[in-house]
Amino acid sequence: MTSREPDFILGDHSRASGEPSRRAWLRQAMRTIDADFNRSSDTHLQKLTVGGLDGVDIYLKDESIHPTGSLKHRLARSLILYGLCSGRIGPETTLIEASSGSTAVSEAYFARLLGLPFVAVVPEGTSARKIAEIARNGGQTVEVAAGDIYAKAEELAAESGGYYLDQFTNAERATDWRANNNIAESLFQQLESEPHPAPEWIVVGAGTGGTSATIGRYLRYRADCFCDTKVCVADPEGSVFYDGYVSGEDASQAGVRSRIEGVGRPRMEPSFLPQIVDRMMKISDAASIAAVWWLKDLTGRRFGPSTGLNLCASLVLAGEMKAGGREGSIATLICDGGERYEDTCHSAAWLEAQGLDIAPHVDWLAQFTPTFARL
Ligand SMILES: Cc1ncc(COP(=O)(O)O)c(C=O)c1O
Repeated sequence: MTSREPDFILGDHSRASGEPSRRAWLRQAMRTIDADFNRSSDTHLQKLTVGGLDGVDIYLKDESIHPTGSLKHRLARSLILYGLCSGRIGPETTLIEASSGSTAVSEAYFARLLGLPFVAVVPEGTSARKIAEIARNGGQTVEVAAGDIYAKAEELAAESGGYYLDQFTNAERATDWRANNNIAESLFQQLESEPHPAPEWIVVGAGTGGTSATIGRYLRYRADCFCDTKVCVADPEGSVFYDGYVSGEDASQAGVRSRIEGVGRPRMEPSFLPQIVDRMMKISDAASIAAVWWLKDLTGRRFGPSTGLNLCASLVLAGEMKAGGREGSIATLICDGGERYEDTCHSAAWLEAQGLDIAPHVDWLAQFTPTFARL
């Protein structure tokens, strides 16, 4: 006797996403990303030896050693996993992003791992070096006016049936802020054996705002251990985050552009969560760049300007702790390597052309130069 289809089914429809071939591709895609993760090691936490701050330890989480050279390696992996697991990325999907920098380089890397085309929509004037690095990782670039990058990426995704990874919207939701080796979990594990394992401050810059969102959430999620640890976001010139944070309003300003690559934005990006940022500092570009020149003398290594931004704010906070007679620690990030900035912030000619005088800030930083240098 054949079983009669029950008459209570008022509708029944399947989608292609369930097809065996698509599922097989997804399984292979997850294995590929997993294998890549397994081949990678976690980033180091470096203790910076400075002078004049006894009792206050400063730690730098070195995200420049990721396979694609920046903190964006983590975000790119999260954004692509988010798209895969949300059924938005399949074997024929073109991946698209609005980014002139580190994120596009990292996303191109993962797209190539999965054998998918990747297109980065970049603002006009993006350095040839950055475009070459995206291409070296298998990505194409489309140049448009800075303010049009979001709309152009949407348009390309609609035209090609592709997927707009949209770091500015999805960074805060694609990153697992509870676990999975997110940047906060990794940092705190590496601080466990230090004299002050719960830092007074974690200092980061904001581009998408995803990093500060992940850390701010993790601190609250682990309030049992870190309820006294606060997040300070440092903002460069040519950015609206600080103004929006102070006013509590949407401070978007078309046409402004940060010289400190990767951080600072012309609008309050959706992934920037001011409600979990305890303090913000606006730092001059000359000081941020002076800090990476100072760090180069101290360590022999070049870093990107957003690392200098982080370091300036960290040294100001450390000075406050010292002046207040408080011992403790501060943790911040090395966001990317300096190779990408040989023609910009590591070039005296570029500084001059930009009218950036770093000398007074190098003098200020000199008070922290230890009698002996070690990183
Ligand atoms: C070099 C660099 N530093 C810092 C950041 C800020 O990170 P987030 O986007 O998580 O705010 C970025 C972001 O693009 C970056 O590229």
